[in-house]
Amino acid sequence: MNKLSVLKRAFSSSTSLNAVKTVTVVGGGLMGSGIAQVAAQAGQNVTIVDLQPELLEKAQKSIQNNLTRVAKKVHKDDAAKVEGFVKESFSRIKVSTNIEDGVNADLIIEAIVEKLDVKQELFNKLDLLAPEHTILASNTSSISINEIGAGIKRKDRFGGLHFFNPVPIMRLLEVIKGDHISEETYQTMMAWGKSVGKTCITCKDTPGFVVNRLLGPYSAEALRMYERGDASARDIDTAMKLGAGYPMGPLELADFTGLDNKKAILAVMLDKTGHTAFRPVAILDRLVGQGKLGRKSGEGIYKYDK
Ligand code: CAA
Ligand code: NAD
Repeated sequence: MNKLSVLKRAFSSSTSLNAVKTVTVVGGGLMGSGIAQVAAQAGQNVTIVDLQPELLEKAQKSIQNNLTRVAKKVHKDDAAKVEGFVKESFSRIKVSTNIEDGVNADLIIEAIVEKLDVKQELFNKLDLLAPEHTILASNTSSISINEIGAGIKRKDRFGGLHFFNPVPIMRLLEVIKGDHISEETYQTMMAWGKSVGKTCITCKDTPGFVVNRLLGPYSAEALRMYERGDASARDIDTAMKLGAGYPMGPLELADFTGLDNKKAILAVMLDKTGHTAFRPVAILDRLVGQGKLGRKSGEGIYKYDK
């Protein structure tokens, strides 16, 4: 299925939604804004909660731009339809800095910083505040779903929904089954993933799930190769694009997903697997220490226009 048919599937599914009609996304960064966008595109009412008002503003701008990109692809030259689609989808999205404004939802997806204690604190709070029927989910890249949900009571209504960046374009959703998830919750998550146009795969609560378990060593070795000076960053990226057919080279991809995120994933993976492929990479630590986080901060391995 090509990118256009995925987008079309997301639109057509908006008329046959499953039980999930209201979604809250906690964390309006790179991933949270994309998740909010695909849910709104599919006809669901969405609230984005973030700590900082300026990040919510940035998320709204980025969603509006990306909705326009999507609408232009689907409605081509029909300017009225493009405008109508963007307006309608965007009107379904509310933002708030107060978590209490987001607790009344059928599904709450967490997309905040990749730190176990911060995620646990959030889920413990959501468990207390959200209505009985609400399903809680984490978009974690690597942290154990069982550990994130260790302190909550509704363990049967909790799981992982792991999206890929950029969310509106990447077709996959990994649905992660923790030890206590009920069959009903799992089926609802699978149906919801389909309703937002994704192809869902299922994975156990294993470090890095499928994609990051495989992508992690590849990405870390590319960074080490660059650090050793085996080849330039551009040549490493060109090699993997033209020699292996990847849409982005590994260093471009690391900048794209965020170097802070990459560092956090490698640390979790090393801790959980003990595998040396995930050992720290000095250049990654140095860049993150300098606030060079990749595209989102304007500089990482490469420099970007703001
Ligand atoms: N929203 C809407 N549309 C978008 C978009 C977004 N955020 N980003 C790109 N697009 C659209 C563009 O408008 C463009 O549309 P047209 O073809 O109509 O012009 C189309 O997608 C392709 O984009 P570009 O022409 O800008 O560039 P491209 O062809 O190189 O594609 C890409 C961009 C889709 C990001 C591609 O480079 C790619 O697939 N890269 C690899 C991404 C990847 O591997 N992601 C997974 C990372 S791992 C992860 O996410 C998990 C984790 O836990 C860290
Ligand atoms: P990001 O830094 O772009 O955004 C995180 C957002 O969360 C920020 O806007 C921050 O202000 C907000 N935040 C932090 N703590 C919060 C709290 N307690 N309450 C509300 N908001 C809070 O990060 P991201 O790249 O979007 O990653 C978010 C999550 O998604 C991480 O767990 C990451 O591992 C995962 N993930 C990332 C990618 C990727 O490519 N970047 C892909 C898949 C999954």
